[in-house]
Amino acid sequence: MASAGVCLRPTAGRRAAGAEGRYHFVMSAEYLIKQYGLDQGALEIQYIEEFFLDFPRKKTAAEVVQRLSSRDHQILMAEAALPEEPGTFVPVSFKVSHELRGAETDPKLADLVAQLEDCVEFDGRRVLYQWIGGTRSDWRGQGHFRALTEEQEVWALENGFDELVVKTKNRFYEMRSTLAQLRFDIIRFVQHPTDSGESKVFFSKRLGQHVIDTHRSRRSVVRSD
Ligand SMILES: CC(C)(COP(=O)(O)OP(=O)(O)OC[C@H]1O[C@@H](n2cnc3c(N)ncnc32)[C@H](O)[C@@H]1OP(=O)(O)O)[C@@H](O)C(=O)NCCC(=O)NCCS
Repeated sequence: MASAGVCLRPTAGRRAAGAEGRYHFVMSAEYLIKQYGLDQGALEIQYIEEFFLDFPRKKTAAEVVQRLSSRDHQILMAEAALPEEPGTFVPVSFKVSHELRGAETDPKLADLVAQLEDCVEFDGRRVLYQWIGGTRSDWRGQGHFRALTEEQEVWALENGFDELVVKTKNRFYEMRSTLAQLRFDIIRFVQHPTDSGESKVFFSKRLGQHVIDTHRSRRSVVRSD
């Protein structure tokens, strides 16, 4: 049976520059976030990915379960009210991340680790890989992905992770810009032999209290197992 508890995070606002360069405090919206357990979360991911016309290959619930079941992971989803029906909330943004170890047996993950070998230290450290994520097009630019990222970072630090790693492609310009804005650093570029849009770009963020101190989203988080 599903169980849910509400955990209210400390509130945060946003500083904005005024006309004379003075700062004033603007209260930000509260983002509604659900953190799912594996089985329900996998179904939610399969459902929300159907809205992403720009995703080349959508993940099935079975693939999500297969990838995540033997490793520490987090499935986050942001919900927002439909503009035409303010009482109805729908999933609008998601983010799935999982532990990545230095010694992986799954060929895809082993290949990923090999590509990161000389720029990410795995020995004695916990690395969290941001596997999939996005925001539905009608809800982009409203801070949902920032809110999910900040929630992910809190969870990652609480769970002993040292670093977050993300892979994207050259042609995913929105994702590249967003990761830069969220203060991820580029750590590796893997050139595609014929199509530069397909070249891989790896980003990373080292975690610590200094990261949490930069957070500014106000979030209410419900855990649904
Ligand atoms: C990238 C994506 C997840 C951003 O989601 P979002 O909910 O619109 O992001 P947010 O509104 O939380 O924005 C986060 C930050 O990134 C910035 N940002 C978002 N989209 C941007 C864009 N297109 N260009 C430049 N900056 C951008 C925002 O200004 C914000 O910075 P701020 O908080 O300092 O103002 C969304 O555009 C998306 O799903 N794109 C398609 C995903 C994709 O390409 N996937 C392929 C596989 S990687």
